[in-house]
Amino acid sequence: MKVWKESINKTAYQEELAYIVSVLRENLDLFVGSYPHVSVKNRYSPEENVLWTSSFFVGMCYLAYEYTGDEVFRKYEKEHLDSFQDRLDRKRGISHDLGFLYTLSCVACYKTTGDRRAEELARRAARLLAERYNEKGKYIQAWGEMGIGYPDVKIIIDTMLNLPLLYWTGDEKLAEIAENHALTASGTLVRPDASTYHTYLMNPDTGEAVCGKTHQGYADESIWARGQAWAVYGYALSYRYTGDSRFLQVARRAAEVFRRNLPADWVPYWDFTFTDEQPDIRDTSAASIYVCGLLELCSHVSDGEAESCLSLAETVMRSLREKYTTKGMENVNGILTEGMYHRHDGQEESTIWGDYFYMEALMRLTRDWRLYW
Ligand code: GLY
Repeated sequence: MKVWKESINKTAYQEELAYIVSVLRENLDLFVGSYPHVSVKNRYSPEENVLWTSSFFVGMCYLAYEYTGDEVFRKYEKEHLDSFQDRLDRKRGISHDLGFLYTLSCVACYKTTGDRRAEELARRAARLLAERYNEKGKYIQAWGEMGIGYPDVKIIIDTMLNLPLLYWTGDEKLAEIAENHALTASGTLVRPDASTYHTYLMNPDTGEAVCGKTHQGYADESIWARGQAWAVYGYALSYRYTGDSRFLQVARRAAEVFRRNLPADWVPYWDFTFTDEQPDIRDTSAASIYVCGLLELCSHVSDGEAESCLSLAETVMRSLREKYTTKGMENVNGILTEGMYHRHDGQEESTIWGDYFYMEALMRLTRDWRLYW
C-alpha cells in the first residue's frame, strides 16, 4: 500500500460502488451493441456504436466485474467484442477516439480476462489510430478524413487520453507517435501558463501549427473545463509510459490551473470563464476526469505532494457524492447528474464518460487498481 493511500477511509466509496454496480446490473441487457451516451432526465437510451462514447459502459462492466468478481458482468462479452470488431471492419465513426473506444472495450477485456481476440482487436485499432499521424507536424489528426487540407485539420486536447492505446501495444513506432503527439500538443494546445486550448488548427501540408481555437469551450482564449481535465490526466498517463519529466510538469501545472478555477463547491463550471460570481452550468464529468488525473499524479510525485493531490481528489469526490449523483431518483440509469456535452447538446445531464471516470476514481480509491489506460 502506498503511503499516500493509507489515510483513505473507504466506506463511503464502497457505498458509491455498490450503488453503481446495482445500476449496471439492472441495465446489462439494455446496452448490447448499442450504448449509452448522454442522458435525457438522467436516463440513457441505447445508441448505435458509432459515437466516441460507445466503450465507456463496457469499461464500467469490467470495473464491476473486477470489483465484485461476478461473472454476470461478462454476460455480453462476446456481443460487445462483435460490435467493436464490426465497427473496425466497417470503419464506422473512425477518428482519434479509437483510443477511448478500444482501450475500454478491448484492452480492458484483455487485461481482466486474457482474451486474445480482444487483444488483437485493440492492436488493430492502435494501428488504425497511427494512420492519423502527420509526420511533418508530428501530430495525430483529431477529426475528419485523412487527406483533407487546411483549414480543416485540428489537433485537440482530448487526444491525450487516446495515446495510451498506442503506448500499451509496446510497439516502438506506435509509442514514438504517441510521444511525439504529446510533445507537439504541449507546445500548442498547452499554453505557456499551462491552461489549454481545446483545439489547434494545423496545416497538414507544411506541418505548421496555426492557431488555437475552441470547439466545445466558451471562446478560443477561454479554458474549457473538460479539456483542462483531459490535459491533467492525459499528460500524467504519458509520463507513466515515457518517464519524460516534461509530461509530468505539464500534468502538475495543468492540475494547478484546474484547482485555481474550482468554485466553492469544488465541481467546475463547464468553462473557467464562469465563476461563483458569474455562474453557469457545471460539468461533473470534468470533475471526475480531474480526480482520476490527480490520483494518477499521486503515483508519480513525492509523498508530500501525493498527499495534497489525494486530499484535493477526496474533496472533489465528497462534493460529487453528496450533491451530484442520481441516488434516490426514480427511473434513472445515469450516475452523475449535471454533466455537460456541448453548450446546446446535452447539458445538466448524466454523461457516460463522467460516470465511467467517477467509477474509475472509486476503484482507484478503494484498491490498487491496475489501470486499463
Ligand atoms: N472527447 C469529447 C469530449 O470530451 O466531449
